[in-house]
Amino acid sequence: MSTNPNDDLHADLAAAVLAREAAQQPSWPDEQALVAAVAEIAAYPPLVFAGECDVMRTRMAAAARGDAFVLMGGDCAETFRSATANNIRDRIKTVLQMAAVLTYGASVPVVKVGRMAGQYAKPRSSNTETRAGQTLPAYRGDMVNDFAFEPAARTPDPQRLVRAYHHSAATLNLVRAFTMGGFADLRHVHDWNKGFVSSAANVRYERLARDIDKAMRFMAACGADFDAMRATEFFSAHEALVLDYERPLTRIDSRTGLAYDTSAHFVWVGERTRELDGAHVDFLARVRNPIGVKLSPKADLDDVARLVERLDPTREPGRLTIITRMGAERVRAALPALVERVQAEGATVTWVCDPMHGNTFESTGGYKTRKFDDIVEEVHGFFDVHRALGTVPGGLHVELTGNDVTECIGGAHKILDTDLEKRYETVCDPRLNHQQSLELAFLVAEMLSADVPA
Ligand code: PEP
Ligand code: CO
Repeated sequence: MSTNPNDDLHADLAAAVLAREAAQQPSWPDEQALVAAVAEIAAYPPLVFAGECDVMRTRMAAAARGDAFVLMGGDCAETFRSATANNIRDRIKTVLQMAAVLTYGASVPVVKVGRMAGQYAKPRSSNTETRAGQTLPAYRGDMVNDFAFEPAARTPDPQRLVRAYHHSAATLNLVRAFTMGGFADLRHVHDWNKGFVSSAANVRYERLARDIDKAMRFMAACGADFDAMRATEFFSAHEALVLDYERPLTRIDSRTGLAYDTSAHFVWVGERTRELDGAHVDFLARVRNPIGVKLSPKADLDDVARLVERLDPTREPGRLTIITRMGAERVRAALPALVERVQAEGATVTWVCDPMHGNTFESTGGYKTRKFDDIVEEVHGFFDVHRALGTVPGGLHVELTGNDVTECIGGAHKILDTDLEKRYETVCDPRLNHQQSLELAFLVAEMLSADVPA
């Protein structure tokens, strides 16, 4: 008999994965190397703590009620190379700025969530990629293989799971330092804007920061206590895709005896791995974290009802978030029936809009891109549907970077199809750049503060 409860847990989880279909998993060429990597990760400390996941669940419940709004943002796919201090800082600053815009514009607390410190794996539509007659394994994220189109780089390497752990730990360390060490103090609201290229959105942000400053000085003069503003909560999230990474990071909480996936505070299953009987849904059902499911218009409503039953059997607000990614054209037609069905199941889920993944297309120059206007239009549709049904639009999930990239078309800088090649850096989906992110936040703040449907 083992004495460590995590050993039994890991044996159970391994057996559970084997008993089910696990979609989108890498074909590791070396089984021994995989076993060694998984054992190494299992011996490392947790990245997040059970108590933090519990706090986040209460925040998600507040968002489900309309007492808070969730902002999730970060890269489509993080890379090891881009996990630098500057990149991480700029992404955090972007999320903090967007949150300030939303909080100030709509007077609602914002639950800040980074799609970071673990977003290193990607589902792919094909197992292979062919270029100029050469066929290699598809890139599945830095946790699995390398983006470079070469046989050695594309071969899945289990040591990358270990590297993903270390990069996530380093990223989280910086996130915690930035958000707990005074940088996120609302009295630094101006500083978050420093270092970014100037744009209409930045100028608008500066005005807002001046207003916030004035309000803070007023409160200080009244003798307010600013301790609560010195630090901010910031949660981590990623798609729980590669189960050989998520399993060894799942741990028994010594206080409650319950299992938590300690790779992040919040984990979700994607549109391609949410089969009811699949290994991913089974895995999420076994952990106590706040969790999410992505749904497209393809989702069958009976399946959704069964997913709700499987993942949120006690109908606990904050436990389950449904992230809808319908596409600007379909959201108004497809979302109402889904929302009504979930309501009929008696679940209070947190409804979050992902206006990115239903709006991707290939540009004339061959770049995977999205139009800023489509993104805005989907968020509008999301708000209108929820307002019409009397349900709560609880949050926004976006792919963004703090960098000045040219990956999405439009926005105040009017990025054109022909501009995409200038600074197209993503290894997966196109991200909003810093100014497009801020611009979106201003628009969403208006939607959030509007009492009546547009
Ligand atoms: C993603 O979030 O990058 C993703 C793959 O989304 P979806 O599962 O919604 O397609
Ligand atoms: Co993506």
